Amino acid sequence: MFRLVMLVTDLEHCPDLLHTIGQMHPAEIFEHRDVAEADLKSADLVLVDVAEGSDAVLSGVRDALARAGNAASVGLVRGGNRRDKMQADALGLGRIWSRTRPAKEALREIELQFGSYTDVSLPAETPEQTSLSVQAMSAALGECTLSVVTDTLLPLAQVARAVDDTLEAFRLDGIDAWMSAVQMHHSHTYCHSMLVTGYALAFADVLGLSKAERAFLGAAAMLHDVGKVYIPLSILDKPAKLTDEEFEIIRQHPVRSREILSAQPNISPEVIDIAVHHHEYLDGSGYPDRLKGDQISQSVRMLTICDIYAALIEKRAYKPAYSPRQAYGVLVDMGPKIDQSLLKIFRTVAFEVDKVATVKRKASATG
Ligand SMILES: [Fe+2]
Ligand SMILES: [Fe+2]
Repeated sequence: MFRLVMLVTDLEHCPDLLHTIGQMHPAEIFEHRDVAEADLKSADLVLVDVAEGSDAVLSGVRDALARAGNAASVGLVRGGNRRDKMQADALGLGRIWSRTRPAKEALREIELQFGSYTDVSLPAETPEQTSLSVQAMSAALGECTLSVVTDTLLPLAQVARAVDDTLEAFRLDGIDAWMSAVQMHHSHTYCHSMLVTGYALAFADVLGLSKAERAFLGAAAMLHDVGKVYIPLSILDKPAKLTDEEFEIIRQHPVRSREILSAQPNISPEVIDIAVHHHEYLDGSGYPDRLKGDQISQSVRMLTICDIYAALIEKRAYKPAYSPRQAYGVLVDMGPKIDQSLLKIFRTVAFEVDKVATVKRKASATG
């Protein structure tokens, strides 16, 4: 992935355009007066908010940029402001964008040159349908993020198609192949949403849910952490243990999901319920609403199991991946917090789902 650096006058007042770009790509942000040559040395793209920077401070930026070398650079200016334009020229910035440039347009330009954060590079031996479905789901998740940050409608048809593609990959290539491919995703955040979706679909299958219910659960799982869109990717995909403060920020995502999804006209209440409540526990010790027992629906209980299980088996820079047995053991040890009778059924998903699916595939192939 390319390294993106943003330089602003004041971290508290980052221009909307840079803020939006930072939600689609992990970015490092520095204030003009703090930036040093070393911060820019290995950057691929530097976005500089020229407006409002004082001449003296911007000359420090110019020196750091000149010494740092090869990064592509863009200056953000106030449309029609001559002083900004002259400053950008003096800084030697390669391109100039208006601060009010539509974010989608700016992102398209960045992605054409540097690639999209949602691109997944998979090994050549990845089966075709699995590869197609993983790329499609990653792209759909990226479009969901973009629609939230640009305040437009969620691409629900694209989400539904990604779920269908995944079910087809399960059928043709097996669930294990799909789960392995998903874990090649460079972003933990995307990988997590995709794994949870895969487990939710496999769980729905083992429970014998209808096609429509499986499609609903798949879409809900894809959107279950949508509130994380408001949390910088630099925190979400941080390659180290989170600080208490960062963890607290992440804990706000279910409430953010409620805000996002409630403002969408075509989202079913069940999807909102899953997104808002998958961190609730049956004994009332979860968050954000401290729901208890019957207040937590069966779909939410299923998603909670898939969510915790996926988080445990994921490998992070600061923790090894749990084996399926270890991860399942953690869920068992959670006792009354989660639905233990559903967890018994999830056992098949954790340990044997591909075996079951293979037997089913062979049976249907032989008539
Ligand atoms: Fe979550
Ligand atoms: Fe999650």
